[in-house]
Amino acid sequence: MDLHTPVCDLLCCDYPVVLAGMGGVARSELVAAVTEAGGFGFLGMVRERPELVAAEIAAVRARTDRPFGVNLIPAATRPALLEAEVQACIDGGVHAVTLFWDLSAETVKRLRGEGVLVACQVGALDEAIAAQEAGADILIAQGWEAGGHVRGRSGLHALVASVLGAADVPVLAAGGITDGEDLAAVMMLGAQGAVLGTAFLATRESFAHDYHKRRIVEAAPGETVHTEDFHINWPPNAAVRVLPNSVTRGARGDPHAQPRQVIGAEGARSIYLFSTDSPLRSMTGDFEAMALYAGQGAGRIHEIVPAGERLRAIVAAARHCLPAERRLRAPAEPDEREPASPVCYAGQADEAYMGFAPVDELVAELNVLLEAERAGARVAARIATETDDPELKALARVIHADEVRWCKALFQALLALGAEPSTRVGDFYGNAMAIAGVEARLAFVNRGQGWVARKLRTLGPRVRDAGLHATLREMLDAHVRNIDEANAALAARSASA
Ligand SMILES: Cc1cc2nc3c(=O)[nH]c(=O)nc-3n(C[C@H](O)[C@H](O)[C@H](O)COP(=O)(O)O)c2cc1C
Repeated sequence: MDLHTPVCDLLCCDYPVVLAGMGGVARSELVAAVTEAGGFGFLGMVRERPELVAAEIAAVRARTDRPFGVNLIPAATRPALLEAEVQACIDGGVHAVTLFWDLSAETVKRLRGEGVLVACQVGALDEAIAAQEAGADILIAQGWEAGGHVRGRSGLHALVASVLGAADVPVLAAGGITDGEDLAAVMMLGAQGAVLGTAFLATRESFAHDYHKRRIVEAAPGETVHTEDFHINWPPNAAVRVLPNSVTRGARGDPHAQPRQVIGAEGARSIYLFSTDSPLRSMTGDFEAMALYAGQGAGRIHEIVPAGERLRAIVAAARHCLPAERRLRAPAEPDEREPASPVCYAGQADEAYMGFAPVDELVAELNVLLEAERAGARVAARIATETDDPELKALARVIHADEVRWCKALFQALLALGAEPSTRVGDFYGNAMAIAGVEARLAFVNRGQGWVARKLRTLGPRVRDAGLHATLREMLDAHVRNIDEANAALAARSASA
């Protein structure tokens, strides 16, 4: 069993391990490292100038050609700045944006309207429902074990279970997740993956100051505190989880006393005591008194390693713990289905006689389709990111969303057959990306979609299961529609050239 869940197809990554968009800390170097290693990274861009957002997007793109995202916090950002940040994300063609704190339904709608995937991090069930109603594509359930700002009061596992009960979209878990065992645990609950902050803060590529990284490595289990002491810069009554320091011990006085005291600087910007700024590479000052954000997993992080190394260790350990437990839940393997049983045997003979595909062949065909759809989704996402032509961008987004939908349907069909869904990306991806020029690449995608449609026409009538039969029919119709639309768009362009 590999670690590939449907959210990986949505995000176009290999593993369901996501770097939290930590403000200041998750800059281009870290985002590129996590993304290149097969995870998905979000740049932490809360309240940053649009020029920096654009520059960081460009810097990630210079390091990796894989899709990535940006994190924004509407409630902590003036409306004009928020609009400029959102525009920078749209202009920069980012694949996804995460939003956190008070829900801004307008921001969700605006981003989705531009074809950008939106993930909303929530701390309670009612927030999850509201975010989903606003159009969120992914929900991130943040447990109170989390480092940084903590939205709710629920422990992670209870929150994940309740959000899953109401969610129609993929759910990721965040808060205290540090190793493969933690990841496996939330996946066993039904989360499609995890969002990690602290574990990626303590890596070589993170933009946190070495002082902050060292404090995390030295932290003892159970040492973090939940406090409202760090409040300057944020909406009121916002709790954070940090490592204890002179502020949380009360040695720096009343957090709301005036005048405010400057304890550091980042270029020309002053850093105030009791502000939400955490120590960054670019800062000087009294780091001990700053917000030393850390989740409850901090006591289990013992060294600063490259982010890719941490991610690979988490994936390897989660893989190691998942199969035994998953076997309990998965349907029986096809070859364990009592071939000697007269009833079953008769059923199989009947299948062949009626012209239906035997299970082995069906599994192989569905996996071939899954790999092709995954490749198609990735190429479409790249086209959407790279083209400046709004019509082609919109078309590529539709193709991406459709391909992701079929990846999920095929994935589920394979699981229902007791088979292991492939985690490979079809060779089509590499072949398509070798083609220069967005239009030529789209034409190639269209030929690939045509190949899938032909396969579906042959396979569909050989599928006995009515549900799967209907799904493959729907998939065929959607491919034919997209092929026609792409052909029309390409023909219009060559006519006007
Ligand atoms: C240093 C730090 C900064 C953070 N900044 C942000 C932020 O700007 N936006 C956001 O949505 N979440 C932020 N978070 C919270 C993360 O999104 C996530 O919920 C949290 O890191 C998960 O818990 P963990 O740190 O235990 O992995 C931050 C977390 C940390 C540790």
